[in-house]
Amino acid sequence: MLVVSTVKELEKALAAVREKGGKIGLVPTMGALHEGHASLVRRSVAENGATVVSVFVNPTQFNDKNDLANYPRTLEADCALLDSLGASIVFAPTVEEVYPEPDTRQFSYPPIDTVMEGARRPGHFNGVCQIVSKLFYMVKPDRAYFGEKDFQQIAVVRAMVNALQIPVELCPCPIVREESGLALSSRNTLLTPEEKQTAVNISKTLFESVKFSSNHSVAETQAEVTDRLNAIDGLEVEYFEIVDGITLQPVADWTEAPYIVGCITVYCGQRPVRLIDNIKYRG
Ligand code: PAF
Repeated sequence: MLVVSTVKELEKALAAVREKGGKIGLVPTMGALHEGHASLVRRSVAENGATVVSVFVNPTQFNDKNDLANYPRTLEADCALLDSLGASIVFAPTVEEVYPEPDTRQFSYPPIDTVMEGARRPGHFNGVCQIVSKLFYMVKPDRAYFGEKDFQQIAVVRAMVNALQIPVELCPCPIVREESGLALSSRNTLLTPEEKQTAVNISKTLFESVKFSSNHSVAETQAEVTDRLNAIDGLEVEYFEIVDGITLQPVADWTEAPYIVGCITVYCGQRPVRLIDNIKYRG
């Protein structure tokens, strides 16, 4: 496995890979890798001749300076894991390498990027599109792998790929959970053991709400999840929206769309840590 930090080195490594033929898979990450990332890398390694993993904490997608400063950085451990998984190239650039000049490009895909995370984190998806488009231009992957925990992110990246006609196949991969049900996230490392126990209630409540939804309305299901979680010490729901899984617009009735997903963001613990999760209700 090659670890490179400049675009020039990346291009050289990719040229060698292309000479051998075979498809190139890209797994974009911000590092602090866990079993969720590992599942993306395993799938890419199985489906492509070579897998490139980018490890880059992208400053332009953080709208909160503290969040960026506190984001875990564990490059050495990440590389050890990626090597064991069979990745071919790790691209771990500096901020200056990726943004030699400020990126002034604006990406806007309403209404997909204006709801939920888009409404609460101004500029977040613009930053995601800036870095993901740059990675697509730099790596020119045949396939790119994204985790479904960031449900809205995949929809926004898909909108960008369609609008810019980028020749890449997007491969969404299922959420990986701890045995407790907690969705794996790099941010989980910021939770104390007690806070982690509290956070388990998020997935537990979501799972239980699927059965609840079979004989309750969308509004009742939304209220049940929100109220149950807000009643728990150490948890505060930022939003819980039940949406059409394609358009990401809120639904009022279970018959309104064939594919319906509940997307949640919860603040957990002292710091607090912002956790997201989602659950499929229909489809
Ligand atoms: O999902 C993430 O970790 C990031 O948003 C991504 C796609 C790597 C872009 O920085």
